[in-house]
Amino acid sequence: MASVPEIFQSMEYGPAPEAAGPALEWLQGHGRRFGLFIGGRWTEPGSETFETLNPATAKPLAALTQASPAEVDRAVKAARKAQPNWWAIGGHGRARYLYALGRQVQKHSRLFAVLETLDNGKPIRESRDIDIPLVARHFYHHAGWAQLMQRELPGREPVGVIGQIIPWNFPLLMLSWKIAPALAMGNTVVLKPAEFTSLTALRFAELCQEIGLPPGVVNIITGDGRTGEALVTHPDVDKIAFTGSTEVGRIIRSATAGSGKKLSLELGGKSPFVVFSDADLDSVVEGVVDAIWFNQGQVCCAGSRILVQEGVSDRLVTKLKERMETLRVGDPLDKAVDMGAIIAPVQLEKIQGLVRKGEDEGAKLWQPSWSCPREGWFFPPTLFTEVSPAATIAQVEIFGPVVVLMTFRTPEEAVQLANNTRYGLAASVWTESINLALDVAPQLKAGTVWINCTNVFDAASGFGGYRESGFGREGGREGLREYVKWAPGRSGGQAVRRSGRNARRTAGSNSGRSHASTDRLTDRPSDRLPPIDRTPKLYIAGKQTRPDSGYSMAVLDARGQQLGEVGQGNRKDIRNAVEAAHKASGWARVTAHQRAQVLYYLAENLAARADEFARRLIGFGSTDAEAKREVALTVERTFSYAAWADKYDGAVHHTPFRNVTLAMPEPIGVMGVVAPAEWPLLSFVSTVLPGIAMGNTVVAIPSDLGPLLATDLYQVLDTSDLPGGVLNIVTGVRDELARVLAAHDDVDGIWYFGNQETSAEVERLSAGNMKRTWVDLGERRDWSDAQVGEGEEFLEQATQVKNIWIPYGE
Ligand code: NAI
Repeated sequence: MASVPEIFQSMEYGPAPEAAGPALEWLQGHGRRFGLFIGGRWTEPGSETFETLNPATAKPLAALTQASPAEVDRAVKAARKAQPNWWAIGGHGRARYLYALGRQVQKHSRLFAVLETLDNGKPIRESRDIDIPLVARHFYHHAGWAQLMQRELPGREPVGVIGQIIPWNFPLLMLSWKIAPALAMGNTVVLKPAEFTSLTALRFAELCQEIGLPPGVVNIITGDGRTGEALVTHPDVDKIAFTGSTEVGRIIRSATAGSGKKLSLELGGKSPFVVFSDADLDSVVEGVVDAIWFNQGQVCCAGSRILVQEGVSDRLVTKLKERMETLRVGDPLDKAVDMGAIIAPVQLEKIQGLVRKGEDEGAKLWQPSWSCPREGWFFPPTLFTEVSPAATIAQVEIFGPVVVLMTFRTPEEAVQLANNTRYGLAASVWTESINLALDVAPQLKAGTVWINCTNVFDAASGFGGYRESGFGREGGREGLREYVKWAPGRSGGQAVRRSGRNARRTAGSNSGRSHASTDRLTDRPSDRLPPIDRTPKLYIAGKQTRPDSGYSMAVLDARGQQLGEVGQGNRKDIRNAVEAAHKASGWARVTAHQRAQVLYYLAENLAARADEFARRLIGFGSTDAEAKREVALTVERTFSYAAWADKYDGAVHHTPFRNVTLAMPEPIGVMGVVAPAEWPLLSFVSTVLPGIAMGNTVVAIPSDLGPLLATDLYQVLDTSDLPGGVLNIVTGVRDELARVLAAHDDVDGIWYFGNQETSAEVERLSAGNMKRTWVDLGERRDWSDAQVGEGEEFLEQATQVKNIWIPYGE
């Protein structure tokens, strides 16, 4: 018999299985067959069904309905019908329902945990201690946001009917991330769980009935990608919220392009786990366990790339291997098991394939000596060393318990390696030096940075990606934005239909007005002399540049008379401008105060040349008074963004762990801005300055009337201390250039104000690198109205929030 010290050493456990009885009884009570939950009622199981299996045994659990397009339509109609009343019951009313949902989840927490583990294969320890408590927390937290919405989000209203599509790795947790904020903000939802893991969503539908949630507020429809597609393309859905693979995210981006649907995408990742030599290596080892062996590595933000400073690499590898040897893989219902089963054979094969590829490409594989259970789908914890940064396994999301380890020498190299991916979901940084941690965190391209911790989540903190990891945030105040829109005519938002003066200007009708007679400002002797030829060029990297094409194009006034010529920019000019904008990225690190100073100076110089700009506007058909007003408003707007530059703050989220979470709005990077036609001077400035104020660099394409004004503007830029490359102006055929910008992989975001058709195309072309888009679909706004022509909506669109978790206090 083993002695007590020996037992401590070997840490042998006996089995400690959680009883599956109540969950199986629940399944049995439904005859192991489920319909859909639409309009507060259950449908009969459909004609087409599919099985959901237990990944730990490969045995079927229940038959689920494949929802048809007609059923998707019924669910959307039910949600539409329920939405006005759901909004009308007010924040407090909605708060009560969300609170009740939180309570119900808590009251049935063990049933949910067991059901989740049966259906997904994740260890009961995780479903019981992490997933389900976080689900309840999400409903409670958002009950609070429902209660406070009117006060904290004035001027915003619900988006409407939301289609939500979630993956299989955190089934109920993802459901709560989607449903809680949507309902809090007065929307109604149609949610489709992943086909592998629908059971907890179906049990959740019952909770909705139990608490008396008004019918149609939550609809749950099961099915595979076909059902998802029907939901995405349904014309009466106002927004799609999706979590899943980047591949499907891209399909959804294209499918919704131009539809006016709001979209948020939470996609894949290849998150770096950065270990500096002064880190506490024992904590690091436990961190790695949480980073990559949590949920069998099937985690979008899994720390799947360990980057370790050279000096401690060998020690870390030795410690890791020792720890891996003690990990327990097996029956997920066993409370002493660390890792459960892989979701499905298809996923297991994908992992196996990538691991083979890793070996073929020359990386060194290490796995513990014990073997996995034979029944069900299991894969052991796996460590790859001697991995080249370009290797497939260092670049591709494996979505399994496989981690690659690479070394670096300096912090600069660490940042470079960390950012050497097309993704940007999360990162964690391990060091005992707070200075080093807080120096590195802002440099990492990731929506979440965890310092000396990893894979911690909370409803109060936003979560979401940079780059190809998607856009939009879930959780925190920033997550609410996904589920609200600006009420018509309220601060900073909402397009206004073409009207009055704008209509005349866009339509280009300037009829019946003599050019010179009303234009007092132009009526000067000097104007009767032939003008000295001015040849506007493009403005790239702070320099006036001739267009690559060698062509100029005429700019005509409303009556077809030539007002001047501008250079006709092409693809190459856009490329150069984007390159210049990248080179100017230091602008993001200039202090907000300094950015404000430059913008104030810009306003000053604009004001000094007010007459010149007014004359130009008169040339386009404005009256004297209109022109003066537009110039005055432009100066004022420039002041506004100078003012905002150091005032659009982030937040500190009080996440209930031993840390604070800093929610920092960061610039998106290089932004393309395709300016509107109305109010050509004012709207150009209104659309390029928010991005610049927030630290982005911009490639701007002026509108058809705008080029001459924009090129006048660069004379002002030259005298305003704006560093070269921060604002680049490429004139030419606007929509053609817009398409080039939208397709450009080094542009991080694009705003397009123009027609419906190009709006759609801009969204579609942006799917390539998942750049953030903001298009107006041909809607017009009144740029002279500060309520809709400037403000928070613009700043939100010009930034993305990074949440930095910092250990703090007891
Ligand atoms: P997936 O992206 O295909 O599935 C996610 C959800 O989208 C499911 O509900 C699915 O039914 C739905 N869907 C599939 N095709 C659709 C379409 N055309 N339109 C609308 N909805 C559609 O992910 P899948 O197939 O489950 O896993 C594939 C790979 O994706 C995994 O191996 C993993 O690498 C990655 N993945 C990443 C996740 C993440 O959170 N980052 C989550 C799940 C998977």
